[in-house]
Amino acid sequence: MIKIELKTLFSPQKIGNVEIKNRIIRSATQIAGASDDGYITDELINFYVELAKGGTGLIITEITSIDEVGRNIRNHQICLYNDSYIAGNKKLVETVHEYSDVKIAPQLSHAGRQGFNPVAPSTYLYKINKKTSRELKNLEIKEVISNFVRAGVRSYESGYDMVQLNAGHGWLLSNFLSPYINKRTDEYGGDVEGRTKILVDIFNQLRDEVGKNFPIFLKLQTQDFVEGGITLEEAEKIAKILVDTGYDAIEPSGGSGDTIFDQSTPSYPFVVVKSPEDENYFLPSVKRLKPIMKDKPLILMGGVRNPVTMEKFLQEGVADFIAMCRPFIYEPDLPNRWMGGDLSPALCTSCNQCLGTMMSGILYCPIRKKVEKRKEREEKKKA
Ligand SMILES: Cc1cc2nc3c(=O)[nH]c(=O)nc-3n(C[C@H](O)[C@H](O)[C@H](O)COP(=O)(O)O)c2cc1C
Repeated sequence: MIKIELKTLFSPQKIGNVEIKNRIIRSATQIAGASDDGYITDELINFYVELAKGGTGLIITEITSIDEVGRNIRNHQICLYNDSYIAGNKKLVETVHEYSDVKIAPQLSHAGRQGFNPVAPSTYLYKINKKTSRELKNLEIKEVISNFVRAGVRSYESGYDMVQLNAGHGWLLSNFLSPYINKRTDEYGGDVEGRTKILVDIFNQLRDEVGKNFPIFLKLQTQDFVEGGITLEEAEKIAKILVDTGYDAIEPSGGSGDTIFDQSTPSYPFVVVKSPEDENYFLPSVKRLKPIMKDKPLILMGGVRNPVTMEKFLQEGVADFIAMCRPFIYEPDLPNRWMGGDLSPALCTSCNQCLGTMMSGILYCPIRKKVEKRKEREEKKKA
């Protein structure tokens, strides 16, 4: 039998000046484990400790609100919009760091059109909440920038190893990039430079505050999958501006609430992976961006399930890191399983049933729960 080695997958690599022990990243995942007003709870810390013990190199936590207006309509979201949140986040980081040499980053986010009082770069009727977003005034955009910067500084003060900005999936920052939503005529709209300016301004101001040893990277909308939206051609131009600005890494993504429930598209960004052909569905984005990355790491995310394929992508230089979300909900110890020699793909069936579990408590995988219950019954029968 040929023994397959995952040499590259389990080799260290840096984002900015921070070394990550392997190439496996847990992509940001809302878990609804904070208190109703956004403070870190013991239940939430335990959730992340389980992930830390499981062998992943970097945990990107979850959409973390940078201001009160930018909170997600779903409660129990981590917040970092004032200093009272620092102590809890510090405890989370310190506890996770105690359990393994894993690195941890928050994902700073503003809900935009998906918040309680929906706002967007331009007036926009969002079909999910059936609300028309109010157009942000120029001065309000400067406030949003400042709030991202201050939440970035609080991330640094909380001891996080780096910070990711959420510029994907139809949240506010990605709405600025998308020409079908951003119809502004001021400095934050118009051509690619204008629509990308909010991300350039946040980076420049945050870098000044935290210095060059604190990596700042992005989850980036690279395809909107709607008419008049971001295409790969445009994503390449956007990413080039962001790499030149100094962002330390990019995790390409795409889709939003405008596509999730659209039966004519494969429900981006949560595509149901039914066969190996459905896997790695943001590969076109990664391939398009790779030539302009100037040695900055590129993270392949979206339906990545097979460690042998991951190893191949890394060895071929297609991407520098691999990120997964749903597989970790089923198997928080997935990297350890692979490192231990069981190379079968992630057990996650991408059924998306996990999404509904947050309505009534902390996120879990219903399939895993069923399997565990069945095992329990079988053990009882045996006893
Ligand atoms: C339950 C759940 C919560 C998610 N929360 C976030 C989030 O907070 N921020 C984010 O950028 N993406 C979020 N996503 C999207 C994932 O990070 C990822 O982009 C997507 O699920 C595709 O990757 P996968 O095939 O590995 O699951 C979430 C997805 C799921 C299923």
